[in-house]
Amino acid sequence: MNKKTIRDIDVSGKKVLVRCDFNVPLDKETGEIIDNRRIRAAIPTIKYLLDNNAKIILCSHLGRPKGEFNLKYSLRPVAEELSKLLNKEVKLAKDVIGEDAVNLSSNIKEGEIVLLENVRFHKEEEENNPEFAKKLASFADIYVNDAFGTAHRAHASTAGVADYLPAVSGFLIEKELEFLGSSLENPERPFVAILGGAKVSDKIGVIENLLDKVDTLLIGGGMAYTFYKAQGHNIGTSICEEDKLELANEILEKAKQKEVKLLLPIDNHISSEYSNEAEDRFVEEQEIPEGFMGLDIGPKTINLFCEIIKDAKTVLWNGPLGVTEFTKFEEGTKKIAKALAESKAVTIIGGGDSAAAIEKMGLADKMTHISTGGGASLEFLEGKILPGIACLNNK
Ligand code: 3PG
Repeated sequence: MNKKTIRDIDVSGKKVLVRCDFNVPLDKETGEIIDNRRIRAAIPTIKYLLDNNAKIILCSHLGRPKGEFNLKYSLRPVAEELSKLLNKEVKLAKDVIGEDAVNLSSNIKEGEIVLLENVRFHKEEEENNPEFAKKLASFADIYVNDAFGTAHRAHASTAGVADYLPAVSGFLIEKELEFLGSSLENPERPFVAILGGAKVSDKIGVIENLLDKVDTLLIGGGMAYTFYKAQGHNIGTSICEEDKLELANEILEKAKQKEVKLLLPIDNHISSEYSNEAEDRFVEEQEIPEGFMGLDIGPKTINLFCEIIKDAKTVLWNGPLGVTEFTKFEEGTKKIAKALAESKAVTIIGGGDSAAAIEKMGLADKMTHISTGGGASLEFLEGKILPGIACLNNK
């Protein structure tokens, strides 16, 4: 990476403002953290700063509180979780740039950690307001961005603040760039990408960018049915983006021109309704009968995709292959996750639902890299320059 990291700067005795992505899912009833992966992912940077006697001021957003204080979006559970994981006190400021934040950050000592409240309690955060960014910057001597999951947002704490302080990346951003960037630029081949999810429109940019890189592209999930329809197949009541049919054909044509093997499911697990309880069947073809919708890839497709994964040297996966909310239709996603876990290839998982599926199955430590980004990893895989990375100092 040609951006400076915390290794390239002397942090000893300095106040370091670290932007993390602590936007973790919370239980709607209890408010407890359901998945602490993003908090765990910030630990290496925080530990390094502790070991190097920095004064650590953390900040993050949580949810979308729309510029107002809202207890529901307080970072208190994050402060508690962090404190548990680090076995160390993490002081939560009652505000972001108010009296408490000013007091705590001006009196902070080496080896101490302060967490500011949710930066999105101020509308100026998302507006990337320079005054707000400057105020945040005034708390510290150095800015470290480690919020890969929010690096696609040009907000005050993810980008604006870099105008006022030396700005470097933390270890998480460094690692994400290594795996989503360098290792996919120069992959060991065969390089296979598996893309799922409901909509072609969400993945167009990624597909187009990947067509220049991969040897094989496996497509599953709801978006497969837009491709089916574009090719003249019956899709019954399956999800379809009518306005993307032409685009789907263009993608198929481009894949041919670029000699990328693009494979759609060859059989399907279908249901009479979008439900776990409705009548379901398997169809051994690319046709979905009237009154039915495809909700998962079928067993033949699973076998085919698993065989291809077995021979691959690099695999990138983004998006579930079926409707994983319904146990009946999570088979495809589960089997592909297992195949990846057993594979010797470099396995890179774009964030979001596929990452959650792998976590749920307890296979996370079998993957080479699981991105902590959802939208950010998609935009990165589209080849876009993310503002939270662009703003960092070059080496
Ligand atoms: C995410 O969860 O993708 C990031 O934390 C960004 O959140 P946002 O979509 O609310 O900006």
